[in-house]
Amino acid sequence: MDTVLERMEAVQDIEAGTLDVRVKQIRYEGNGINSYELTSPSGKMLPPFDAGSHIDVHLKNGVIRQYSLCNAPAERHRYVIAVLKDAGGRGGSRAVHESLHAGDIVTISIPRNHFALAAGARKVILIAGGIGVTPLKAMAHELEMRHVDFEMHYCARSPEAAAFGPELEAMRRAGKVHYHFDDGDDANRLDLKRLLLEPAPDTHVYYCGPGGFMAACADAASHWPAGTVHFEHFKAPEKPRREAGETAERAAGCQVTIASTGQVLHVGPDQNLADALNEAGVEVPTSCCAGLCATCKVRYRDGEVEHNDFILNDDERDEFLTVCVSRPAGPTLTLDL
Ligand code: FES
Repeated sequence: MDTVLERMEAVQDIEAGTLDVRVKQIRYEGNGINSYELTSPSGKMLPPFDAGSHIDVHLKNGVIRQYSLCNAPAERHRYVIAVLKDAGGRGGSRAVHESLHAGDIVTISIPRNHFALAAGARKVILIAGGIGVTPLKAMAHELEMRHVDFEMHYCARSPEAAAFGPELEAMRRAGKVHYHFDDGDDANRLDLKRLLLEPAPDTHVYYCGPGGFMAACADAASHWPAGTVHFEHFKAPEKPRREAGETAERAAGCQVTIASTGQVLHVGPDQNLADALNEAGVEVPTSCCAGLCATCKVRYRDGEVEHNDFILNDDERDEFLTVCVSRPAGPTLTLDL
C-alpha cells in the first residue's frame, strides 16, 4: 500500500500532465517485439491506471506516440509497454526500438483510458490480434484480480511472434488464455463467427489488433447488443479513396464558429480542422493526430460532422468530434470552445 506522502509526490509529478520515468528494463518478448519497463527515477509510486489505459511516450526525435500499458494495473511501481517494430509504420516504433536504452529518462503522459472495462460484466471475452494483445493483457490481469470470469484468445502468426509467453503461461494452463497460430495454415485461425455466434447475457467482448482483424471482429460481433462490444485500434486503418462527388462537395470549404467568442473561421476543403483552429489562435491539444486517442475531442453544437476517428462511439459522436481528423460535413459548424 502506498503512503499518503508517496501519493502526494506522485500528484506533484503529474501537475503538468507529464512525468519523467526511467527505462529500467528492455526485454525481448517475441519476433520484433520488445517490452519496456518504466519506473520512477526516485523510486516513487507511479500514478494509478486502469486496464485499457495508454500513455504518450515523447521520443527523442520529437515524435509522440501512444502505447497501451500491459502490466497488471495493481502494480504501482512500474508501467510496462510493448512495441512491435513496424518497418512500414510512421516511424514511432522504429524510434522506440532504436533510440530507447535501459537507463534512459523518457517523458511520458499520465495514463489515459478510452478502452476501459465496463462495470458489472459476469463474463468477458478478450480477442487479441498480434501486438493488440497489450491492453487486453492488462485487462486479463485486472479481471483475474477481480475474480471475473474471462477467456482471452490471442491470434499470432506463430509461437515466436506471440509476446509474454512466460507471463501468460499460468493463465493458459488454467484454460483462460487460448493461442491461435495461423502461419501457413488457415485451419489454425480463430473462428470468430463461431466464437461470437451466441451473445450471452452479461457478457462483454473486447478486441484490439490490426486493420483486417478489427474488421473481422466487428463483422462477427455485429449482432451483439449495443454496449457489449468494445474495441481499440492501435493504428489508423487505410481510408477508402474519396469519391469524385464528395470532393466536389468539399470544394467550397466551410465556416466554423467558435461559440464562446463568435469568431468565424473558414476551413478550406483540404485543410485540417485542428490546423485551422491553431492557426486562428484557438488552441486545442493534440497527440496522435490520427483519430486514435481522443485528446483533441471537442463538443459541437450544430452542424453535420464527417467523423473520421477510430475512438468515439456513436453516442459520443452525437456530441463530440476529434478535430485532428474529423471535419464539418456541411457548410457550417459551431464548436463549443
Ligand atoms: S489527437 Fe488523437 S484523436 Fe485527435
